[in-house]
Amino acid sequence: MSQPMLLDTSATESVQLYSIRKSGLLNLKESIIAGLQATPKTLPSLLLWDDQGLQNFDAWTQAPDYYPKRCEWEILTNYQQDIASQLPTGSIIIELGCGNLGKTAWLLAAIERQQRKVHYYALDVSDDALYKNLGNLKTQFANSECISISGLKGTYDDCAEWLAGSAQLPGSTVTFLWLGNSIANLTKLEASLLIGQFRQACRKMSLDCNFLISADSCAVRESILKAYDPNDGPSRKFLLHGLHHANRLLGREVFKEAEWEAVPTWDEDQHELHYSYVPNVDVQFDHDQIQVSIKKGEPIHYFMSGKWTEPHVNSIAEKAGLKVGSVWKDTQEQYCFYLLHNKSYSIGTDGGKSQRALI
Ligand SMILES: C[S@@+](CC[C@H](N)C(=O)[O-])C[C@H]1O[C@@H](n2cnc3c(N)ncnc32)[C@H](O)[C@@H]1O
Repeated sequence: MSQPMLLDTSATESVQLYSIRKSGLLNLKESIIAGLQATPKTLPSLLLWDDQGLQNFDAWTQAPDYYPKRCEWEILTNYQQDIASQLPTGSIIIELGCGNLGKTAWLLAAIERQQRKVHYYALDVSDDALYKNLGNLKTQFANSECISISGLKGTYDDCAEWLAGSAQLPGSTVTFLWLGNSIANLTKLEASLLIGQFRQACRKMSLDCNFLISADSCAVRESILKAYDPNDGPSRKFLLHGLHHANRLLGREVFKEAEWEAVPTWDEDQHELHYSYVPNVDVQFDHDQIQVSIKKGEPIHYFMSGKWTEPHVNSIAEKAGLKVGSVWKDTQEQYCFYLLHNKSYSIGTDGGKSQRALI
């Protein structure tokens, strides 16, 4: 496979930043039109994630009703040393969707205090995450003898493909860090398939793999609906941003914000909150001689946030060929960190250094 392209890193001083994008996978404009022609209509959730989207997300997580952030920080504050101790020295950490890197910085600091050497790769589709935030992280660990840092620009799928074709990782164990309930923006089946894809990629390269994921397990419907209120300032801005991003990609204002609402639907069976864009007028436009028509009131699904219980995560791991090891929870048990590993893997007091095998 061809080597990933080294991006211009002058803005980040000394972070090695690689583009691992495959253009086909990130052709959002085509996905928008294809999704609007499908039945039922959809838009890609990636529309929520550009630099502005990431800023909107970070502003939303500061809102008093946004319980997931509080819970994640409580778990990290209480258990960061224990969590860090599970990551074997000499291993590679790949963070899927690194975002603002606030939690990452804490975790890496805990790893450094334990004198464990790791090579950390941040993956994201947002330039700000990789240039600005990763630059700051690099500065924080500039003098570290334990932590080295690189960035990968691309999607989760790009990363799985890159891993399957790259033999040049500086270690033999990869821990995928997947925080902020990002895994639950996929359906349970998609999550299992993607984890399985990463696992197979690692296996192909004779790498052992673990996943440290955090997932929202809140069961209090009122708290969820309050935190994800589409009419509240910061959450509304985040949830409607996909329309503005789509306008930018299409080169004109096809979606006028005043004509649209972000409408949530709670799926009690699946423990999932689904969002659709719904217009209050008929909307029509042409794109490259394709006519798109959206009827007033017709929902366009674009985003999902699962609130998964421990049995859900056990079953996702099982389907991907992994099993849940350690679990860390906040005091109200609304949120969990899970360590997923190969079925034959067991953690010893040495952080798993001596006991690992691929099945
Ligand atoms: C919910 S935020 C979580 C950010 C961070 N991990 C945290 O816990 O605060 C999701 C992050 O994943 C990135 N992201 C979303 N979908 C992605 C995809 N398909 N491939 C790569 N990154 C993605 C977004 O840009 C964003 O930074």
